[in-house]
Amino acid sequence: MSKFYVTTPLYYVNDEPHIGHAYTTILADVLARYYRILGDDVFFLTGTDEHGQKVQEAAERRKMDPQAHVDEYVERFKNLWNKLHIQHDDFIRTTESRHTDRVKELLTSLFERGEIYAAEYEGLYSVSEERFVTEKEVEEGNFREIKKLKERNYFFKMSHYQDALIKHIDENPDFIKPETRKNEILGFLRQDLNDLCISRPKSRLSWGIEIPFDTDYVTYVWFDALMNYITAIGWGSDDEKFNFWWPANYHLIGKDILTTHAVYWSTMLLAAKIPLPKTILAHGWWLSDDTKMSKSLGNVVKPLDLIDEYGVDPVRYFLMRDMVLGSDANFYMDSFVKRYNADLANDYGNLVNRVTMLIHKNFEGKIPESGVYDEVDLGLISMAKTTPQKVRGNIDDLKLHDALENTLAMIREVNKYLETRAPWKLIKEDKSQGSVAATTLAVAADVLRIGSQLLNPVMPERTKVILTILGAHEIPLENTNFDELKAGTSLGEGKSPFPRIDTK
Ligand code: MSP
Repeated sequence: MSKFYVTTPLYYVNDEPHIGHAYTTILADVLARYYRILGDDVFFLTGTDEHGQKVQEAAERRKMDPQAHVDEYVERFKNLWNKLHIQHDDFIRTTESRHTDRVKELLTSLFERGEIYAAEYEGLYSVSEERFVTEKEVEEGNFREIKKLKERNYFFKMSHYQDALIKHIDENPDFIKPETRKNEILGFLRQDLNDLCISRPKSRLSWGIEIPFDTDYVTYVWFDALMNYITAIGWGSDDEKFNFWWPANYHLIGKDILTTHAVYWSTMLLAAKIPLPKTILAHGWWLSDDTKMSKSLGNVVKPLDLIDEYGVDPVRYFLMRDMVLGSDANFYMDSFVKRYNADLANDYGNLVNRVTMLIHKNFEGKIPESGVYDEVDLGLISMAKTTPQKVRGNIDDLKLHDALENTLAMIREVNKYLETRAPWKLIKEDKSQGSVAATTLAVAADVLRIGSQLLNPVMPERTKVILTILGAHEIPLENTNFDELKAGTSLGEGKSPFPRIDTK
């Protein structure tokens, strides 16, 4: 038994939840479910980022108090997670006092230790990103509105930790994944790191956590939001809880917020003398026609629309199956339908129907008794014995698409096995217990049972339906040993919950 602490980014509460948010949260949920089944102690954290300029402006537009505005908007995320069957252990909002009090405490302690200092600074400020940017960034990036600002502000001595961070990355090969992203950060760290401006004067922005040692300022949103990963698990308030869960096993994030996590957050932790998370994993983007989805382009796939049309589990499956972690993936409606029909309706669902129908018709709806296994049986059985281990290895390596492919490959093998054996023909000759037909159906049902258990973290609802149809609902999900579905077990009623999507 070990512990597993996984986080998603805190989503901007103003944004309408989209497929990118859903993707990371489902990924975290799949990992959390998988390790929970294996008996680990799991803590899965998500939540919302609720301070900053954009929230303040949105509340003003709606003529609302910002707190009332975020209280209303946070429900959109909570509702979506509910609909997607996300089982998070906590949902943190950056406006909660369990968070804001701790942010103030860290600011005070860093200030007292000289890690935060005040300075007059003149620089280029990006209004959309709400931060000072370098000239190089302006040349490279496309910031919509850049202002020259001269302001007194508070700075965190980020530059001081540059070497320590490089050393940490070098000594901990799993700290930033995948490798390409790690190299990007190491490249970034080859230039001198600036100190980080962590305050905003209230004259410009009031919706934030007040700086405890200078109430004319609020805290920069990123400094505030990043701390959620430790405030939610009791840093500064519940040492026992904090020491149990920290360091996080995974911070799951999109590639656009890697610098804030790998550099800002890591140096904040180094300054606070708190160990760094074990792995920061940056995934790619879901694209629409090779372009990043964005509200302004109007090409955002809305997860809720998809769920309403096709159900939660197929959407979870598609997102996990079609993105190779780390790379971008295109979201095409027709690839969703193709994937669903090929993997879920045909390979998996039809097979379940075929096997259970034959058992109902010929063996009174009870798992038949196997005779002596021959080479064909043993080939499939050996695959059923090795697949759970392969799946586990791929999940530990965050290769969820490969883990799903391992399972589907095993299910496809059951299809081949049935084609080779043709039990529907054999039955006509001999359908006694222990016959080849009986053995074939018993082995096929048990391998399908193992496959369903392996698919359960990705498709929790529909695999439960299938496990019930196979009579296997009482076998613990973690038990993926072959031959657990005993002869004589009564099958449940019903059909596969993956009907074919008509494409005509
Ligand atoms: N609030 C910050 C995170 C603070 S974490 C302490 C933030 N929020 S966000 O709502 O804008 O983005 C959240 C996540 O959604 C990011 O990881 C981002 O990469 C991800 N995605 C946004 N669009 C995406 C796609 N089209 N595809 C996949 N993920 C993308 O940044």
